[in-house]
Amino acid sequence: MAQVHEARLPGDGRRVAIKILRPDIILKVQLDRAILLFLVRLLERLIPTLRLVSLEEAIRSFCDAVEEQLDLRNEARNNARFAANFEDDPHVCFPHLHPTLCGASVLTMDFVDGTHEDGLALAEFNVHQVVESGMRAVCRMIFLHGFVHADLHPGNMLFEPPGRIVFLDLGLVGELTDEDRIRTAQMLMALVTGDGPGVARAFFENAPHHAVTDYEAYEREISEFVSDVASKGLGQLQVTLEIGRIFDILRRHRIQARSHMTMVNLALMTAEGMGKRLAPELDLSREALPYLAEALRKTQGD
Ligand SMILES: Nc1ncnc2c1ncn2[C@@H]1O[C@H](COP(=O)(O)OP(=O)(O)O)[C@@H](O)[C@H]1O
Ligand SMILES: [Mg+2]
Repeated sequence: MAQVHEARLPGDGRRVAIKILRPDIILKVQLDRAILLFLVRLLERLIPTLRLVSLEEAIRSFCDAVEEQLDLRNEARNNARFAANFEDDPHVCFPHLHPTLCGASVLTMDFVDGTHEDGLALAEFNVHQVVESGMRAVCRMIFLHGFVHADLHPGNMLFEPPGRIVFLDLGLVGELTDEDRIRTAQMLMALVTGDGPGVARAFFENAPHHAVTDYEAYEREISEFVSDVASKGLGQLQVTLEIGRIFDILRRHRIQARSHMTMVNLALMTAEGMGKRLAPELDLSREALPYLAEALRKTQGD
């Protein structure tokens, strides 16, 4: 939707990055939305059972998320909030904005002289520190702030030596209520401690809709999955990829997962996936545990 250009400010010649919305993008997005909704309604008329999966609702929330990014003032606001949340962390940063040169279709920020993931092989980087900072950042967003970067992929991060991460592209965020955070922490805690019925209960109680016909079979499948994960040893597997298997079980037993769970999982998956690529010897679940524990402790009224 946008393009980023390197530039220099008149006057002091400061190096900046300018993010500009593409011309006509608003009209194009509106047209796409109309086409998608038309097709969904047509499909639902032709195949009435489709209505059960609420395709229209999914398309609507997808389009809403896209439209959020059509006003760069949203990204500027998110930038300010992230920067405040991580003020105390010198290793996790967000591009410094120039507010007088920002508006609905333009964002002007300091140029980050960093590298993408492929540059981390350079000697000046401390890869362990990078991975720990990334994992810490994502855990704090999810379990402490409830304010999460919802478009986390390696292209949206730059790294500065020796171990600093700059998160870019802040147009899409997810907000978790206290309740969401607690339930997510409970679910992951149950997963990490091998408590199958606990994982099953967390998803069931959290589902906006369910049509379970055989709870025991559902709980059994989840428990088998959880002990399978536990038997592999946490160090060896990518927990979040395995969580994909939970979503299959949920689908089969007709339990809807909350959309924030998908977002949380995507964020953790990116962090864990990059962590495993860069530092396979680190046990990332162990890194995450203190944040889970802290989120849960808060719920028990301290
Ligand atoms: N402040 C910045 N400094 C240096 N490079 C940047 C900066 N912001 C963006 N970029 C570069 O531009 C690319 C696209 O920016 P991003 O904000 O992710 O926009 P898009 O929505 O097009 O993905 C980034 O992957 C990064 O390489
Ligand atoms: Mg991007």
